[in-house]
Amino acid sequence: MRFLTSAGSAAAYLLPLISAQKVISLAGDAWTLSNPSLNISVPAHLPSQAHLDLYANQVIGNPYYGLNDFNLRWVAWNNWTYTSAPISGLSSNATSTWLQFDGLDTFTSISFCGQHVASTNNQFRQYWFDVSSILSACGSEADRVLAINFGSAPNIANAIAAEPGQETWPYGVQQVYEFPNRWFIRKEQSDFGWDWGPAFAPAGPWKPAYVVQLDVEEPVHIRNSVVDIYRQGQLNNLPPDQTKPWVVNASLDYFGSLPEGATLKYTLMDLDNNTVMSGGMSSVNCTDATVTGETTVPDGSVDLWWPSQLGAQTLYYMTIDLVATTNVTLASVTKRLGFRTIVLNESPISDAQLAQGIAPGNNWHFEINGHEFYAKGSNFIPPDAFWPRVTVEKMNQLFDSVVDGNQNMLRVWASGAYSPDFLYDLADEKGILLWSEFEFGDALYPVNPEFLDNVFQEADYNVRRVNHHPSLALWAGGNELENLELILVNNSAPEELPRYMTEYETLFLDTLLPAVFGNSHSISYTPSSTSNGWLSLNFSNPIPIVERYYNLTPGSVYGETDFYNYDPSVLYNDTAFPIGRFSNEFGYHSMPSLQSWRTQVSEADLHFNSSTVLLRDHHNPSGGLNTSNYANSSTGQAQMTEAVELWYPIPNKTDSFSAWCHATQIFQADLYVSEIEFYRRGSGLPNRQLGSLYWQLEDIWVAPTWAGIEYDGRWKVLHYAAKDIYEHVIIAPYYNLATGNLSVWVTSDLWDAATGTATFTWYDWSGSKLPINATSSVDFSIGAINSTQVLQTFTTDILKDYDLTNVVMHMTVEAQGSLPNDNTTRIFRHDNWFHPTALKDAQLVDPALQLSYSNSTKNFTVTATSGVAAWVWLDYPSGSVLNFDSNAFWLAPNGTREIGYTVKSDSTNGAWIDGVTVESLYNQTLST
Ligand SMILES: *[C@@H]1O[C@H](CO)[C@@H](O)[C@H](O)[C@H]1NC(C)=O
Ligand SMILES: *[C@@H]1O[C@H](CO)[C@@H](O)[C@H](O)[C@H]1NC(C)=O
Ligand SMILES: *[C@@H]1O[C@H](CO)[C@@H](O)[C@H](O)[C@H]1NC(C)=O
Ligand SMILES: *[C@@H]1O[C@H](CO)[C@@H](O)[C@H](O)[C@H]1NC(C)=O
Ligand SMILES: *[C@@H]1O[C@H](CO)[C@@H](O)[C@H](O)[C@H]1NC(C)=O
Ligand SMILES: *[C@@H]1O[C@H](CO)[C@@H](O)[C@H](O)[C@H]1NC(C)=O
Repeated sequence: MRFLTSAGSAAAYLLPLISAQKVISLAGDAWTLSNPSLNISVPAHLPSQAHLDLYANQVIGNPYYGLNDFNLRWVAWNNWTYTSAPISGLSSNATSTWLQFDGLDTFTSISFCGQHVASTNNQFRQYWFDVSSILSACGSEADRVLAINFGSAPNIANAIAAEPGQETWPYGVQQVYEFPNRWFIRKEQSDFGWDWGPAFAPAGPWKPAYVVQLDVEEPVHIRNSVVDIYRQGQLNNLPPDQTKPWVVNASLDYFGSLPEGATLKYTLMDLDNNTVMSGGMSSVNCTDATVTGETTVPDGSVDLWWPSQLGAQTLYYMTIDLVATTNVTLASVTKRLGFRTIVLNESPISDAQLAQGIAPGNNWHFEINGHEFYAKGSNFIPPDAFWPRVTVEKMNQLFDSVVDGNQNMLRVWASGAYSPDFLYDLADEKGILLWSEFEFGDALYPVNPEFLDNVFQEADYNVRRVNHHPSLALWAGGNELENLELILVNNSAPEELPRYMTEYETLFLDTLLPAVFGNSHSISYTPSSTSNGWLSLNFSNPIPIVERYYNLTPGSVYGETDFYNYDPSVLYNDTAFPIGRFSNEFGYHSMPSLQSWRTQVSEADLHFNSSTVLLRDHHNPSGGLNTSNYANSSTGQAQMTEAVELWYPIPNKTDSFSAWCHATQIFQADLYVSEIEFYRRGSGLPNRQLGSLYWQLEDIWVAPTWAGIEYDGRWKVLHYAAKDIYEHVIIAPYYNLATGNLSVWVTSDLWDAATGTATFTWYDWSGSKLPINATSSVDFSIGAINSTQVLQTFTTDILKDYDLTNVVMHMTVEAQGSLPNDNTTRIFRHDNWFHPTALKDAQLVDPALQLSYSNSTKNFTVTATSGVAAWVWLDYPSGSVLNFDSNAFWLAPNGTREIGYTVKSDSTNGAWIDGVTVESLYNQTLST
């Protein structure tokens, strides 16, 4: 039995360095997990959760296997106690002894030396307790045992809901997935189930914990800290003056007793530890819990941090020393940080913007270091139902895939957990902006004083903890509140809307906004994703934001859009997609690959309409969102079936489960591409659309979901297709099926103008060129972050003599331009395809694909030896995780493509290369 001397791997990664010799980490395997009434007692770990320790000791099977999501509900309905081995190494001459918990999930009763210490009820807070008197009354060293009893969260949520006088909400407002009443408790909301995930409601000490002993030389311990870097005079949510110096405000949260007259010193270093600046901080203020000071850094004395593909990710270290009047350093914190401003600009459209043709209303876009940019990305959900097993390695791979996928922003969705520091560290390094959210979603919440205070403590702690990360892009109050929850109230009980709107503002404006604005001048706040933005922003009011809600003027464009439509006829139908300034959510689900299914479901259960597969699809009206949008929809499985049958050759479902899974992925990718093309084109239209974040980046387990990356890191068709359509310069068709109006646009998100040529070549599916009377090539120039039409015609005219099932158009673009913050002139290329009928009706021919691999170039080569090849797909066997440089592409007749790859993990010792196969959509027709 031992405690580790440093925290577990994930937790140790770039933790702020805190100098204190008398900090004993409680991480390690010197723990026991028990439930006496179930007669269970097993060796355990910290950080951990009960399911993980029960699984490690084979008391339960793999929680992710088969239907264990349902079979293991008994674990969630029971209490679990984590008991430590006697804690050795404690000093007897300390002036005080403390317990510090960085995260307890969720309802605990804590005892030390057999004495009750405290109870806790918030998974997201840090807790610290003075146990000096308990320790001094403790008998022998063998009695120095810490025991943490975790109550059953589903039981406790139900008990709170049943309290007399408890808050209630109108019918249909509170979205229930598996366990009810999640809105009464401060625990990861998706632990009670969601439409893309399982419901385990885990319990345990999920983050590091410490014993801290203080003495005369080190009378304080820094438990948390905030560094806020902003331009002098900057106000939240408003673009600052980029010529002003930087203000660096630092504030240390401590416990212990702070000597009179303590001051702060700082050292700013580059990553090679060369000092850039150092000195004493000014305006130092001390309270009984914090020490705050500030300094300025002249403009130009540090390099800026930029997101991926928009410039360099320059980082610095800053050490902040808490210094006594004797000049002795009492405590010290080092953080790695960056200099940038990131603002969510929701200001009214200016006269200058109106003059450029931008529709009236308000802006809703991000600005990095004073520059508008196009946000390209997706939504990040909890990467595992059990956070303690989320490793740095896994997140490093996932974030590499984000960058490889041409994404620069993730929305860290509101009903998981606040991201650990290591996740922000990785995002800082890779240039991924993290739009971060408080953990509230798809429900309304109580507003009694205890609940609000608990929420404020949680928000204050987490805002301070992560504020120094340059990747932090925004704080949002919660998910789908103004655009869903308040509307559901209005649908169900319109007379009660004023009351619930007041409560909504009590939590999301009066409570959460001060937690952001009170700690950060650098980060913008919005109470809800999705919203129409603010109506007014006035810093002379205690709460500066007044929300617009549905106070809209026709013809004006305001905020963000969130769009789901499970009628698969929506594919390619531009008139169905919403027009806004930014799209923060949209999608459709698909099946995971057979390789992934096999890791969590038995072979016998892997067939079409298998009850295990059906039960792992949590997108259905009885278990999922009960909104009008979903009410008419069939189950998720039926929706995917309808989608494939409407648009593609139908794979033989009973013979080829794998082909079926793949076909659902093609529909998903096709839909997302058509929406992303639509949103991106909006950057050059009056709505001046500046962001596309699809739902969702990655999977929490193996199941039918909206993800583009599977649980083990394997890319679905979607992630490849998104990578392609998130290139800087793209060409895309827009087609009105009813009128035959066909246009082609080039869209660029470069920050300077570009010039180039677009070409259009018409074929029949067998590969013969068609002499269609339409433009074949156009020169164009395109402005910064803009789009331009390069072709407009009517298929009713140019294709009137052709069989539409046997026509396909290849379009290419080649443009000269340069990347932001980089003067090199580069060539940007992209191509795309237009087919006037659904591919199920198209006269596909066998493109007789040839695949080869070169040991010298480490590239695969695919050639279409006859006809046009649609949705060419390279597949690779189980045992490795990798991504090809491109996949799910089309090939022109006799077209060939060389494809490199990046291996993320490989247990096949390179043998996967021999297992690579290639097929195209044509192969789907073979199995019918
Ligand atoms: C206790 O006394 C020892 C020996 O003098 C000293 O090294 C140590 O720093 C003191 N304080 C604590 C908290 O152990
Ligand atoms: C389970 O935990 C809860 C909350 O800590 C507590 O109220 C309850 O008494 C416990 N039940 C048992 C059987 O220990
Ligand atoms: C900078 O200093 C830290 C702490 O002393 C050390 O761990 C790190 O290796 C140093 N980095 C370089 C590049 O010297
Ligand atoms: C310290 O308090 C004073 C008075 O409230 C304030 O003006 C100053 O900005 C504070 N210092 C810091 C670093 O916040
Ligand atoms: C602390 O350091 C400052 C600056 O180096 C010096 O002026 C002062 O005399 C020192 N105070 C003590 C008590 O050593
Ligand atoms: C496209 O969507 C619009 C708006 O929802 C709808 O009215 C129209 O019928 C759709 N068109 C097709 C071809 O499905």
